Amino acid sequence: MEKMVRPVPFLDLRAQLAPLRSEIDAAIASVIDRTAFILSDHVTAFEQDFAAFCGASHCVGVDSGTQALHLALRALGVGPGDEVITVPNTFIATVEAIIYTGATPVLVDVDPDTWLIDPRAVERALTPRTKAILPVHLFGHPAPMDEIRALAAGVGAVVVEDACQAHGARLRGQRCGKLGRAAGFSFYPGKNLGGFGDGGAIVTDDAELAALARSLRHHGQGAKNIHDHVGYTGRLDSLQAAVLRVKLPHLDRWNGARRRLAAHYRRRLAGSFRMPRVLDGAEAVHHLFPIHVADPDQTVSRLQAAGVSCGRHYPIAVHLQPALACLGRGGGSFPVAEELCAGIISLPIYAEMDEEMVDAVCSALL
Ligand SMILES: Cc1ncc(COP(=O)(O)O)c(C=O)c1O
Repeated sequence: MEKMVRPVPFLDLRAQLAPLRSEIDAAIASVIDRTAFILSDHVTAFEQDFAAFCGASHCVGVDSGTQALHLALRALGVGPGDEVITVPNTFIATVEAIIYTGATPVLVDVDPDTWLIDPRAVERALTPRTKAILPVHLFGHPAPMDEIRALAAGVGAVVVEDACQAHGARLRGQRCGKLGRAAGFSFYPGKNLGGFGDGGAIVTDDAELAALARSLRHHGQGAKNIHDHVGYTGRLDSLQAAVLRVKLPHLDRWNGARRRLAAHYRRRLAGSFRMPRVLDGAEAVHHLFPIHVADPDQTVSRLQAAGVSCGRHYPIAVHLQPALACLGRGGGSFPVAEELCAGIISLPIYAEMDEEMVDAVCSALL
């Protein structure tokens, strides 16, 4: 029988929301009072705030992170016949976004130290059809963007960041969202900046791209009742924008707390488990705190019995998912990513945790 430690949930959104509750209630009430549900000034105001937070010129609010990646790629002209390079150890949405454009996803293996896209593998995968590279800032760790941008520039490809786990992260002082031609963010409730449902945003300095994405999210409409493109119902809701706008001013503080907790985990677990290295010059925001273990299912059950809830991100590499059998890449195609996925577990990390809770997780683990 395991010794009971203080219960630690994987995430505690109630604790995050409690101090903001009256402000959020007022923000929601103002949307309802004005029945301003679609593309209101709530959306515009949040877009301005989030662009400024990222240090970018434009933000286009959309209905999910997947849509943000999809529309960014589509607005950059990615389509059938093109190849887009990304990684196998990500959420399936990264690859779905490529497939929606009609382009072909080309997966490359990851670096065994950082667990992020490996620039040497990207170099080997470049072809005359490479139109875009889509690195993922996995777990909130910035990917090696200098190398990726240089490789893309060499073949005239564009770089789109999958920043769905990296709100506020920095590489050499610049925020994720500023490190490629465009970036896609998710505001899924459990993200470092999360709404009360689905939501997402494209962030870019490219005015033309932003204008096209803005049109595509709204049925391709340019001027009122003129549809220049076949687009989507892909807008960020006003209610989500109003909630996100209340939360955004707290994001840097929340990310700082995550960094302190991650440092404490590292001190306690160093030498006992494999953990991904954060790149030199990067400031991670630790959306997740992954470790690699020999027996993930048993470890998760053992921790659960001790009151600690864990996650698995992501136990099956995307090319081994039934839905992506079409990629034609079987087991053994990407040995580093496959081995990492098979042994990964995510420990609880959120701003309202304290070091005692990290100690409780580590004691249960060790
Ligand atoms: C790495 C990554 N890419 C894309 C997405 C898709 O975001 P959404 O769920 O908002 O569509 C997510 C979110 O779960 C993600 O973690």
